[in-house]
Amino acid sequence: MTAAAMATRSSPSPQPHGSDPMSKRNFARLAAYIYDYSGIKMPESKKTMLEGRLRRRQRAAGAQTLDDYCDYIFAEQNLAEEGLSLINAVTTNKTDFFREPGHFDYLSKVILPEMAARGVRSIRAWSAACSTGPEPYTLAMVLDDHAETHGGPAYGILATDLDTDVLETARSGIYPRELVDPVPDALQRKYVMFPRDAARRDVRMVPALRSAIGFARLNLMDERYPVGEPMHLVFCRNVLIYFDKPTQKQVVSRLVDCLKPGGYLFLGHSESITGHDLPLTQVANTVFRKG
Ligand SMILES: C[S@@+](CC[C@H](N)C(=O)[O-])C[C@H]1O[C@@H](n2cnc3c(N)ncnc32)[C@H](O)[C@@H]1O
Repeated sequence: MTAAAMATRSSPSPQPHGSDPMSKRNFARLAAYIYDYSGIKMPESKKTMLEGRLRRRQRAAGAQTLDDYCDYIFAEQNLAEEGLSLINAVTTNKTDFFREPGHFDYLSKVILPEMAARGVRSIRAWSAACSTGPEPYTLAMVLDDHAETHGGPAYGILATDLDTDVLETARSGIYPRELVDPVPDALQRKYVMFPRDAARRDVRMVPALRSAIGFARLNLMDERYPVGEPMHLVFCRNVLIYFDKPTQKQVVSRLVDCLKPGGYLFLGHSESITGHDLPLTQVANTVFRKG
């Protein structure tokens, strides 16, 4: 059924938009689709949250009820297109500049000197669930500032996410002014452009940072991660929590395959690799060294 047909379909007792719950059957098939595609768990306890997040998609499709919307997306010809918007609506994108700041301290005080001692002249870093971009831009600030004050190493950052909407924001490098509050003043002066007009509430990352980061869509559920040469640093923070244990294990194992020996993996503070048999040594809180 097309979106237009949905819009004109009559119902004997139409529900007002925004109040109908989804049937258990439709919740189950949506949850299965989301899990298979993205790895994101959708237990029964998240039904109300999912309903809330899909209202806008329901309206956009012109569907009277969430169940009508489900019929619409599961019609074979619609899934490919609407699936993308559905997944964008389902992801949780909370992020911050200098989130879990101990990681960036450890990077500049321990890892970068250690890599300098090993003669590393160019660093490849990957932010593997970058959301709207504060994580890769924080990383870029730290690496760029270090390079300038220590005469290197050069660096390049790959930043990926499943959600195409957040990638668009990340590419623009434009944020509400208050979001950069956690960035230390000296780094704000160097890397953040504030508009002359004080009434404007947006700021932008400087071009040098924007051009140091390549943004791309990558689904961590994919069997291979086509990221090119192995990385010195992989940040995969605050995304494993949405996956179940077997999926976490597969994802971490594929991330480790993308690390150079002596490279570092950063997970979120509430994430762990306990019980996974991987060539990693924990060196700080949720920081692991390969080999
Ligand atoms: C809570 S944010 C974390 C952002 C950032 N790493 C941080 O710690 O601030 C989680 C991100 O993971 C992304 N994500 C969820 N499932 C994914 C998948 N299968 N592949 C890639 N990214 C995924 C979401 O789109 C979201 O932007």
